Amino acid sequence: METILVVEDKESMAAMLKETLEAEGYKVIPARDAAKGIKYLKNGKIDLVLTDLKLPDKNGIDVLKASKEENHLTPVIVMTAFGSVEAAVSAMKEGAFDFITKPFDTDHLIILIKRALETQRLVTENILLKEEVSSRFGLPGIIGKSRNIVDVAQIVQKVAATKTTVLILGESGTGKELFARAIHNLSSRKHYPFVPINCAAIPKALLESELFGHEKGSFTGADARKLGKFQLADKGTIFLDEIGDMDLSIQAKLLRAIEEGEIERVGAITSITLDVRIVAASNKDLEKAVEEKKFREDLFYRLNVFPVRVPPLRERKGDIPLLVEYFINKYCNEMKTPVKNVSKEALDILMGYHWKGNVRELGNTIERAVILCDGEVITPDHFILSKEVVSGPVTAFSSTEGTLESVAKEALRTAETKRISSALHETRGNKSKAAEILQVSYKTLLTKIKEYGIES
Ligand SMILES: Nc1ncnc2c1ncn2[C@@H]1O[C@H](COP(=O)(O)OP(=O)(O)OP(=O)(O)O)[C@@H](O)[C@H]1O
Ligand SMILES: [Mg+2]
Repeated sequence: METILVVEDKESMAAMLKETLEAEGYKVIPARDAAKGIKYLKNGKIDLVLTDLKLPDKNGIDVLKASKEENHLTPVIVMTAFGSVEAAVSAMKEGAFDFITKPFDTDHLIILIKRALETQRLVTENILLKEEVSSRFGLPGIIGKSRNIVDVAQIVQKVAATKTTVLILGESGTGKELFARAIHNLSSRKHYPFVPINCAAIPKALLESELFGHEKGSFTGADARKLGKFQLADKGTIFLDEIGDMDLSIQAKLLRAIEEGEIERVGAITSITLDVRIVAASNKDLEKAVEEKKFREDLFYRLNVFPVRVPPLRERKGDIPLLVEYFINKYCNEMKTPVKNVSKEALDILMGYHWKGNVRELGNTIERAVILCDGEVITPDHFILSKEVVSGPVTAFSSTEGTLESVAKEALRTAETKRISSALHETRGNKSKAAEILQVSYKTLLTKIKEYGIES
């Protein structure tokens, strides 16, 4: 039963409201003035506030404000006298759910109350859901439930709040930039800029001034002073993408900027002190680059304070169905077509594919499939995948790289993921029955479900 606080001084009106609302099954707490109303708000659990605007001591807006202070989600409906439009407007500005003009039809009031309570329920549910999603599955915007990705998400969540330099390593398309943005958004720097710069995409002659800025006239073509990305990122985060491709001469300058916490514009006499958090990413093996003298060892250690390795998609195949669903929704919405399904054979192919281009490649594959598919169901015909690995799920085992041990492990993982998924499907998610069918212990099954990130 929901509790409604009714703040109304006029006795006949208060009695009528009490009777009407109780007849609808609500519990009514009557208050004759604002002070009493506010006292109830502080003491008890109130689901909705219905308050008159004109009250003997203060007015309804004070009750509204007190209610918002107590719990901003509790809906407040304000009763106003006929003709007092301004008062109604100010009530809405202060966050009233709605207002109702006296004299009113009680049916109208009941509808309003039901709508307010329903809206509040949905809002609360949504907040809880969001909290649950981000606490259970890691980070907002990052799809994946497999143990591999959840582990990374948890580490990232911990380091985000600090100023620690983070080095994100992983193959192309695994989501490194997504994680970099998540680190920024989860930190207290989120209200300041996130400034990405792709070190591989900028010619080396320009990279220094891109990063640190330059003074007017410092080189041919420098016809105005330019702020560098570091300065633009002040109080925020700079994302040094593809750092492995940075030229050695610029690496030296970057190292100095990190060590001293200050930068020097090209051609400038004095340096500038900045507060910038650094997140760097690379799809190259930086340690190898250090050995080959292509990357400064001292810079590597400066950046490698907190390394985060984003796993390739083939090490978290259990996330593929989730990602497929996510991308289908995304592209169908973008193309304004009804959301499509994916056939079992099609999903099998996606599960078996090697995904050298990782999540980006999967996203592109689904985008093309949504365009090519005229009907409601995406089938294997709608995929354009490299022949080498697409002729059937079994070919997922035929890797052309890696050690024998790693190939065997991957084959096992793929085969077991498929078999466990189908057993869970067969038993409608009943894990003990599935364990029986698969002839393993319940505990073993649970471990594998978790390890492979299989959805039950
Ligand atoms: N876990 C994920 N959930 C949802 N989308 C993802 C996920 N991982 C990656 N993506 C999407 O895949 C694409 C590639 O991700 P991103 O650009 O972050 O990869 P990257 O590791 O930086 O790649 P590269 O090394 O090629 O720069 C993006 O469109 C991104 O939104
Ligand atoms: Mg990237």
